[in-house]
Amino acid sequence: MATPQLTIGIGRGPLMWLALLWATVAVGCSAPRKPAPLTIHAPPVAAVDRARDAWQLPQWIVERMRLEPGMVVADIGAGTGYLLPFLSRAVGPEGKVYAVEIQPQLVDHLRKRAAAEHLDNVEVVLSTETDAPLPQPVDRMILLHSYRELAQPIEMLRALKQRMQPTGRLFVIEFLPPPDPSGLPLPLPDEKVRVEPATIEAEARGAGLLATQRYTGLPHQFFAMFVHSEEVTPAAPAPRVEPDPAAQEPAAK
Ligand SMILES: C[S@@+](CC[C@H](N)C(=O)[O-])C[C@H]1O[C@@H](n2cnc3c(N)ncnc32)[C@H](O)[C@@H]1O
Repeated sequence: MATPQLTIGIGRGPLMWLALLWATVAVGCSAPRKPAPLTIHAPPVAAVDRARDAWQLPQWIVERMRLEPGMVVADIGAGTGYLLPFLSRAVGPEGKVYAVEIQPQLVDHLRKRAAAEHLDNVEVVLSTETDAPLPQPVDRMILLHSYRELAQPIEMLRALKQRMQPTGRLFVIEFLPPPDPSGLPLPLPDEKVRVEPATIEAEARGAGLLATQRYTGLPHQFFAMFVHSEEVTPAAPAPRVEPDPAAQEPAAK
């Protein structure tokens, strides 16, 4: 029997038509990035997610994030909550997972999912295009397939950096262009809304975050770790001021 599905999204009605018109006019330019509708599968959600594990390798991702019990982690653009069980387990009952979403319908869904799956250390947070109002500084952040939907990526990254501990780490995972030729049934995003790894790294630099590690273990995806740029390039010491010989007092005669 086919799994019943509910498709939700934002930007319906006149706004959606305006957005479509804008997209048509903007042919040739890069498409605006914006949150896209997601399919919420009827319970058990986990059964749908498990089909993704074969290529997404969620446990492997969580290990690369070096999560420890008691840590605070934020899943930015948590969607339907694919990664939450893994993050929740890794930080344990003493830790905290913030599931951050901009679409209110998904916020609602995430709350229900966390309750249904007894993910007691998960708290759901409604974000804006430019900030995620997290109640406390976090040790780790991850954007799994959500970077490409950030409408204001540099502003958002700047805000996320402020929400992270100075030693915090931010991880980004996005599909690698060009489309994967393996024939796997991947939910590949439209070419127009893909973001090149070089663009992600440049935008992150603009927000004060540097890529210090790229992982090659995911078959179809770019996966990189970003740190506060100050951690890599400490503020330059104040320049030494040499006395200007030309400005010296003339020697007494
Ligand atoms: C393609 S989905 C990925 C969901 C999930 N991370 C996954 O891999 O299954 C991208 C999600 O990012 C969310 N999103 C887009 N912009 C956002 C923002 N500024 N803050 C939080 N979430 C955002 C969208 O609403 C959408 O649910």
